[in-house]
Amino acid sequence: MNILAIESSCDETAAAIVQDGTKILSNVVVSQIDIFKEYGGVIPEVAARSHLEAIMPVIHQAFSEANLTWNNIDAIAVTHTPGLLGSLLIGTLTARTLAILHNKPLYAVHHLKSHIYACWLGSSENAFPKFPLLALVISGGHTQIIYMKKHNNFKIIGTTRDDAVGECFDKVAKILGLPYPGGPSIAKAAENGNPEKYHLPHPKLDSPYDFSFSGLKTAVLRAVQKELKKPISFPSHELAPLLSKQQVADFAASFQKTAIDILLKNLQTALHNHPDIKSIVIAGGVSANTTLREEAFKVFSEEYKRSATRESLRDSRRITLEENALKVSFPERSFSGDNAAMVGAAAYYEIKSGIEPTNPYTLTLSPRSEIH
Ligand code: KG4
Ligand code: ZN
Repeated sequence: MNILAIESSCDETAAAIVQDGTKILSNVVVSQIDIFKEYGGVIPEVAARSHLEAIMPVIHQAFSEANLTWNNIDAIAVTHTPGLLGSLLIGTLTARTLAILHNKPLYAVHHLKSHIYACWLGSSENAFPKFPLLALVISGGHTQIIYMKKHNNFKIIGTTRDDAVGECFDKVAKILGLPYPGGPSIAKAAENGNPEKYHLPHPKLDSPYDFSFSGLKTAVLRAVQKELKKPISFPSHELAPLLSKQQVADFAASFQKTAIDILLKNLQTALHNHPDIKSIVIAGGVSANTTLREEAFKVFSEEYKRSATRESLRDSRRITLEENALKVSFPERSFSGDNAAMVGAAAYYEIKSGIEPTNPYTLTLSPRSEIH
């Protein structure tokens, strides 16, 4: 089954053709990063206008890269929530029009679901994440721990009370004078920094799975002001030029370490309290972070050894470590951020789960909604 997928929820205009939820026949992403670097963030009206210009050429390129025509397409999938209203509007209007014009079933897909299903892309059946699983979805707009008993079954068990972790990377990068988007800039600066140099606090919340990142951003701001011997009234945008390259690197590394520790600690607690879990999935833009990937493998391979030992003591059957392994899955790095291939993967598993297509004449969109 070939699905033409379209994604335009934020500042990437993307189209892809995906076969059977995993095989990528084409994948085209036009990023507006260069436009927004100048402003240090996304301007919604500019993003919508850029989508409008790019969307049809991007779809045409997806067809030509795959060397396919409309006759080879079985369904269309599009992101309809959450995201920037004007951006979503361009993608959904295009998908609705094409579905009517070419008489194809249309699937409207939740953006966070697509991020999770990016882990199925390019994978073979024996390497797929196993259910039940815990998904940590970390992006510019979301930070959530989601329990999935099976395909298309989502229970949010932890969420951020304020900023998303990606948003926090972006804001801290601004304080340190690093370019937009902040995540990759912080990761790069942190390579030369000492993660133990500055001690930044973990939030104290009454739920063990919830997150809060606005305090961490303020803690970085206060630490920079203190380091430069400036009062707390000193404007944040005047701090960066006063920092040395080494200070920037040390702040980037210390912040990155703290953010990763917070994410993995909550995920570990969730794992302890859900002994049925067979896989951990970590997805969304922030999951491209190399240090996070390394730390997650370290933390969860320890978990897996512990659980293997526990099982061996309880059960006299000989179990191999492989059988008992807790699987940790990340999307391929190029599919961590926004792309359309992941929308095609998510739509395929909607179809397999028996979810009905949507009506292209009445499809609505929403800037905010929980995963469903
Ligand atoms: O999933 P995504 O592309 O868009 C949203 O759905 O929000 O995520 C974008 C976020 C941005 O905040 C960006 O700074 C962050 O992902 N990001 C990273 C890295 N690459 C992108 N954060 C940390 N480390 C990275 N390597
Ligand atoms: Zn995203």
